[in-house]
Amino acid sequence: MTVHARTLPVLTDSDVLAGFRTLRSQQPVEYWAFYSSQMKGIVTDPALMVLPFDDHIVHRGHGIFDTAAIVEGKIYDLEAHLDRFLRSADRSKLRLPCTREEMRDIVVQTAAASGRRDGSIRYWLSSGPGSLELTPARGAEPGFFVMIFAGLSYPDRWYTEGLRVMTTTYPIKAPLYAITKATNYLPNVLMQMEAKEKGFDNGVFIDADGNVGESSNMNVAFVTKKGALVHPKFDHILAGCTSLRLLELARANQDRAQVAGVEVRDIPVAEARTCREMLLLGSSIKVAPVVQWDDQAIGNGKPGPVSKALLQLLEQDMRTSDRLIAIPY
Ligand SMILES: Cc1ncc(COP(=O)(O)O)c(C=O)c1O
Repeated sequence: MTVHARTLPVLTDSDVLAGFRTLRSQQPVEYWAFYSSQMKGIVTDPALMVLPFDDHIVHRGHGIFDTAAIVEGKIYDLEAHLDRFLRSADRSKLRLPCTREEMRDIVVQTAAASGRRDGSIRYWLSSGPGSLELTPARGAEPGFFVMIFAGLSYPDRWYTEGLRVMTTTYPIKAPLYAITKATNYLPNVLMQMEAKEKGFDNGVFIDADGNVGESSNMNVAFVTKKGALVHPKFDHILAGCTSLRLLELARANQDRAQVAGVEVRDIPVAEARTCREMLLLGSSIKVAPVVQWDDQAIGNGKPGPVSKALLQLLEQDMRTSDRLIAIPY
């Protein structure tokens, strides 16, 4: 049998734009504004939110990112996210396209162009286009991109009934890669896919010493039998801005948080499994209770009081703290 290959068209620039518009209409997205240092401005049509294929962030994963939240017309805790972004850039040997102040200003202006009062801001730094090699191309300009989008959404059930997680069979990233927020999320993606395939909501990485690591795009914490909030050390997992802020809030408001102390230390899996509560923490999930880990219930198998109290503390902080930047719409 002869297979007749379809003759492929050679496209014009308007064919390309029409193609991207068709793609977006088949799969609508909630992307409201996008800044690109390569385009030197902001676009609001998702069909135009593109970058050159030979940018090394695309074909070599040489790039980093971070995500912050827009809450009631203000950006929450951007400085902490920018701190981590700059640390990740340094560890990834990525040059900055402009100063921190200019990056902050671009983020704020892109948020304003979106017109949205609630949502997420994700921004990336790339090593730039110019070759298909590994090291940055000669003369490559680093790329800075900012996307204002609807944010990740999770089922209400996660908060009302709690999540079920499994210990992943995938190895945890080596510490240097885990503490760097680079665009290579393959282990994180595989962990989440594996969990969903097996009927769980998410996975948990365990380190080589048998201590708890983190989840796919969120940190993990526990409430011990004695009521202390315990969190793994940040030397081999991502330093979650949410975790760091919550540890601070819980320390300062132990009664409200319903905890008897706060500890950041190694947490052996055997100890973790005996805890009263297990929590997932992150910018997108905020604070959610885990009620089952592998085949074992956590505590009494119901969401506990600390997860609820910490969620309230965080939500209050996201609206009233001094870590808010007003967006000049
Ligand atoms: C691997 C990983 N761990 C933890 C977190 C939580 O970090 P944050 O609280 O800053 O969202 C994230 C999300 O950025 C993540 O990707």
